[in-house]
Amino acid sequence: MRAIQITELSGPDSALAVVDIPEPEPSHMLTPGQGVVVDVRAAGVSFPEVLQTRGEYQLKPPLPFVPGSEVGGIVRSAPPDADVQPGDRVAAFCALGGFAEVAVAPAFMSFKLPEELDFAQGAALVLNYHTAWFALRMRGRLTEGETVLVHGAAGGVGTASLQVARGLGARTIAVVSTDEKEQVAREAGADEVVRSDGPWKDQARDLSEGGVDVVLDPVGGDRFTDSLRSLRENGRVVVVGFTGGSIPEVRVNRLLLGNTEVVGAGWGAYVMGRPEVTRQIGSEVMRLVDQGFVRPIVGARFPFDRASEALRMIDERGATGKVVLEVS
Ligand SMILES: NC(=O)c1ccc[n+]([C@@H]2O[C@H](COP(=O)([O-])OP(=O)(O)OC[C@H]3O[C@@H](n4cnc5c(N)ncnc54)[C@H](OP(=O)(O)O)[C@@H]3O)[C@@H](O)[C@H]2O)c1
Repeated sequence: MRAIQITELSGPDSALAVVDIPEPEPSHMLTPGQGVVVDVRAAGVSFPEVLQTRGEYQLKPPLPFVPGSEVGGIVRSAPPDADVQPGDRVAAFCALGGFAEVAVAPAFMSFKLPEELDFAQGAALVLNYHTAWFALRMRGRLTEGETVLVHGAAGGVGTASLQVARGLGARTIAVVSTDEKEQVAREAGADEVVRSDGPWKDQARDLSEGGVDVVLDPVGGDRFTDSLRSLRENGRVVVVGFTGGSIPEVRVNRLLLGNTEVVGAGWGAYVMGRPEVTRQIGSEVMRLVDQGFVRPIVGARFPFDRASEALRMIDERGATGKVVLEVS
């Protein structure tokens, strides 16, 4: 099969090679001896693959390896007790190996792809939407009627979080850096949009009449203190990522003074050993698809052999919604 490997740790421009390698066995590292084999139509591209081309991601397989954490495709084979069966359209999280014509995912991370969504949207469904649900609902305890501020709101996690928050009955304030990203955040259903280079903290406090209930933060960096200041009493900042480059530090007296919280949300680490949690999140996300709240926004589609351009787009802050590789 054709696949893309990371062959050296030299960054998006030079780390990738298109190769011909044997198809994988029906076995996944999380479920040894078992797995759902998928004929891949589209592969999702995300920040971790950019980091992997530099050896900067926590998952560091020996070189060369096939990156790609999630796919949309058609099931070729599956364990008899899996929720998907041969011939089904599927959205699957494979962790690695997605940039290939054939990939393997654990059964508990494989979901029937609803009619309403195409394969590219299937490749955008698990990582970002499960993270959004986990971060907003399970870690951030977001409830109906609350207000949530979403940083990096035009990105993959950002657009997913806007849609999931809406599905939970919350009001959303999106923070973005450009006009184009403002459009994307509105398309994703943001109630309000403010600019990251403007007085967003004061705007958020005004728009929420005194402070937001939850800040969802995939960006980090120097805006973190203002995120804390934008909260109302009992508010929560949910830490999801650090695309801004630096890891913020908190002076904890701020939490005492404001009666606020900082909460970590590491989806992968939490759910990998808890299949029942993944099933629960999966059914909540599918309910939001059925209700029309969840419609992954695919911002750019690249042919298979132009994967390095896809990675560069993310690296250079140019991505909106989900970036996808068209595999076949
Ligand atoms: N905790 C978890 O379980 C979990 C799960 C999935 C992903 N993540 C992490 O969440 C983060 C976001 O992922 P994503 O897929 O949403 O990424 P993305 O689509 O590239 O969006 C990231 C956003 O970050 C903002 N940003 C600010 N400074 C940036 C910079 N210097 N370079 C790049 N972007 C910058 C950009 O928005 P503006 O230009 O509008 O500021 C951009 O739209 C990543 O760090 C990822 O690893 C964490």
